Amino acid sequence: VTQQSSALDAAVATAVVPLSAARERAAALDAADPLAHVRGRFTLPPGLVYLDGNSLGALPAHVPAAVDDVVRRQWGQDLITSWNANDWWGAPERAGEKVARLIGAEPGSVLVTDSTTVDLFKVVVSAARLRPGRDVLVVEPDAFPTDQYVVDAVAELTGLTSRRVAAHDLPAALADGGPDGLAGRVAAVVLSLVDYRTGELLDLPALTAAVHGAGGLVVWDLSHAAGAVPVGLAEHGADFAVGCGYKYLNGGPGAPAYVYAAPRHQEASGSPLAGWHGHARPFAMEGTYAPAQGISRFRDGTPPLLSMLALESALEVFADLSIAQVRARSLSLTSWLVELADAHLPELEVVTPREPGRRGSQVSLRHPDAYAVVQALIARGVVGDFREPDIVRLGLAPLYVTHADVVATVEHLRAVLDAGEHRDERYALRSRVT
Ligand SMILES: Cc1ncc(COP(=O)(O)O)c(C=O)c1O
Repeated sequence: VTQQSSALDAAVATAVVPLSAARERAAALDAADPLAHVRGRFTLPPGLVYLDGNSLGALPAHVPAAVDDVVRRQWGQDLITSWNANDWWGAPERAGEKVARLIGAEPGSVLVTDSTTVDLFKVVVSAARLRPGRDVLVVEPDAFPTDQYVVDAVAELTGLTSRRVAAHDLPAALADGGPDGLAGRVAAVVLSLVDYRTGELLDLPALTAAVHGAGGLVVWDLSHAAGAVPVGLAEHGADFAVGCGYKYLNGGPGAPAYVYAAPRHQEASGSPLAGWHGHARPFAMEGTYAPAQGISRFRDGTPPLLSMLALESALEVFADLSIAQVRARSLSLTSWLVELADAHLPELEVVTPREPGRRGSQVSLRHPDAYAVVQALIARGVVGDFREPDIVRLGLAPLYVTHADVVATVEHLRAVLDAGEHRDERYALRSRVT
């Protein structure tokens, strides 16, 4: 206790903003925020500080009525006619257009379908086939596990070699003509725009150019970026991208993912999971596969329409917002949390880059008892999550998290650490989902 108090005293002595004053400053920042009203578009339990919108986005308040309409009227009354009458058939492309606006993609280049894992498989196979004669697929060693598994699986299927290279080492590795080097060998590189663990934002224009310079194609995983940071796929010439619908896009649990294929690649790529929804003439019931034109060729089977239409409806919260505005609010929130953590939580190391340009919309804090700290925080009504091995991950979804929430989080974290609440034996036991 003595050690902790002295650490705290030292921190408070040098603090930029004492916690009492921080509440006032947060109120002023929230009052001046041009997007403050957007929080009112969400249903959140009163008093809860929700910092896990990077894992499961909050419920937009209008979505229950939209889903109710899908269930009662479209399914209950219109039944099978809904495929035409309510254009169920067009939902993947329609929702895709709404996602396209958020990630700076060309019209007709984004489709909502399947999970991120399945979509990644489809585009990595496509990318590998677009670069015949090249024998290496690259993924980051710290990428989200599914990305590593998919790249390994595609390599095995297509007879290529899978290699782990960190994004920061990529330009040098791509230029390396030595026996272990990658010069002239890379077919495709899979990169995550925002790292799920650290929250680091990569330089999409520079890395895309580096991979192209080496003759390869780049697949961006936008799961932790879309809806929170500007992406600019078209502007920067990205090849393929995928991402989750249930994080910052707020599509709900198990919402389908999205897939992007640059228009220049669509003709020569497509889903290796040839299915009737991706056929050029699905109702001709032909016995051999002929892919549909454009992004629709990445369709395969019947989509989960309740989830699909919930996501389509949820995307409406972005309709009148620019991603630049969203990014400004996100940076204000993450900077505020970094500043307060530095000043008041000396036991926790800020892992997320401090340079705003290298930061997504989360702040990750390292602590040896991170799992237990997160559980103790949740018990106090502040929901973040834990990521292996020692990360307290706090997602600041810019549409509904406030500067006041950030202060409350730091106050609760301080209280947890001061009282040693995380040492409670209840928090030693790991749940199935962490
Ligand atoms: C970066 C990243 N990629 C891929 C996935 C996997 O998505 P899905 O479960 O939809 O396949 C996740 C899930 O959290 C993720 O964070």
